[in-house]
Amino acid sequence: DLQSSIEIPDKGKADAPVYVGKEEDIKQSQRITASVHDREVVVFYHEGKFYAMDRRCYHAGGPLHLGEIEDINGQPCIICPWHKYKITLATGEGLYQAINPTEPSAIPKWRSKGIKQRTHKVTIDNGSVYVTPSDLSISCDSDYYADKYKKTESSDM
Ligand code: FES
Repeated sequence: DLQSSIEIPDKGKADAPVYVGKEEDIKQSQRITASVHDREVVVFYHEGKFYAMDRRCYHAGGPLHLGEIEDINGQPCIICPWHKYKITLATGEGLYQAINPTEPSAIPKWRSKGIKQRTHKVTIDNGSVYVTPSDLSISCDSDYYADKYKKTESSDM
């Protein structure tokens, strides 16, 4: 029968996909927070795509799940509500505006600081949404806050 063909992810493995919610529910709410192997993540649904990343901003641990999404240079970014850092949803890159001081009239350009916020893989199976943690052996700036806030997951500040 159909049921037996559904793969049940192994919750014991640190890199196994974790069920975070129903596709329809997340499409409606546009964002949810979830715990993925003890890690606080936020899942966004934005313009037809799902994205997942660490919930605490790499800068100082701000709550990214409470931020606004803005399009910067054609890339959807979450704006951290604490100090307005901009982070691309797809790759977790920190963006900043670069101005050449020798050219005061020049238009500032958006530049990338590189990957700062850890993103995670989102998969949909049969109307269920799963998040697979990215490779934790490669360190990322947001790891510090992911670790720090591990035990205070009820805090929404
Ligand atoms: Fe996110 Fe400072 S904590 S911008």
